[in-house]
Amino acid sequence: MTQIRDASRELRIDPDSVGGGYFKHAVYNHWDPYEDVDGTLLEQDRERLAAADALGETEFEDLMQTLALFGAGEEAVTEDLAPLMLAVDDIDDQMFVSSQIYEEAKHTQFFDRYWREVVHPVADAKGFERVAPTDQRFFPDGYVELFDRTEDAMERLLTDDTPENRVKAYSHYHLVVESVLAQTGYYGITSALSPRGSDAVPTGDFPHVEGLVEGISYIRSDEGRHVGFGMQKVQHHLAEDGVDEAVVRDTLQDLMPLVAETVSATGEVAEPMPLVEYAREKLTRRIDIITDREATIPDVEELVALDDEPAAAD
Ligand SMILES: [Fe+2]
Ligand SMILES: [Fe+2]
Repeated sequence: MTQIRDASRELRIDPDSVGGGYFKHAVYNHWDPYEDVDGTLLEQDRERLAAADALGETEFEDLMQTLALFGAGEEAVTEDLAPLMLAVDDIDDQMFVSSQIYEEAKHTQFFDRYWREVVHPVADAKGFERVAPTDQRFFPDGYVELFDRTEDAMERLLTDDTPENRVKAYSHYHLVVESVLAQTGYYGITSALSPRGSDAVPTGDFPHVEGLVEGISYIRSDEGRHVGFGMQKVQHHLAEDGVDEAVVRDTLQDLMPLVAETVSATGEVAEPMPLVEYAREKLTRRIDIITDREATIPDVEELVALDDEPAAAD
């Protein structure tokens, strides 16, 4: 008969475990994608974009592509995390991964909302064609390939759950897609469309869209927590389960060209080269921390803080 609890513990959860601590942090920092980004801010985004003379058809196409890539990415990772939920066997980790799936779903919701409430109405106001966020023209081959490979790495856990395959799964999902690709993209968009971000990234002449940037700030902060969890897990598998650090290094380096192709797809919003550089730096820093068993993963508060300076961003 299945026991209702394993015999190794008294209480159900361990609040001092990595999963337990990260879960608590997720609960405390909950936000609502329907309400917490005020509708009046989205209305202001709509008005500013509709009134911007610099926003011609080419620029609008690029802005749509940027949002389409993020939205599809969030949708893909919502589903792709499910195998990890089945693989992890500790309740604290299960609680954290369930919170992460929920958060990826919230991110998907925010981009859907933005398309409905801002993108389509702006297209109408400008007399441009309404394009669906799922239109295939938005997705470069490298992007599709990156997400296909990530899905495969996650699904492998269902049939062949080994420490090495866990490291590969975290390396695809948490390190490359969430840490390097998403954080680079969000950094670019913050630089292009708000007073924050970095002047090191030359951007197009877009109005500041505070509703979008506020939504993205909530999302970035969640992503910091997700990345921290993945880094902790990879570091643990390398140090305790004898997984070769070359697995991380090779996975990250194999996927880097696909990341570079993706961040270069929308040149009207932000210039590709500084973003590729930012992504490369981030990737190197990740490898350095994870492969050093003595290195401390930054505290979760530090990981979720929005630091828009490239030199300081983790
Ligand atoms: Fe996300
Ligand atoms: Fe995430």
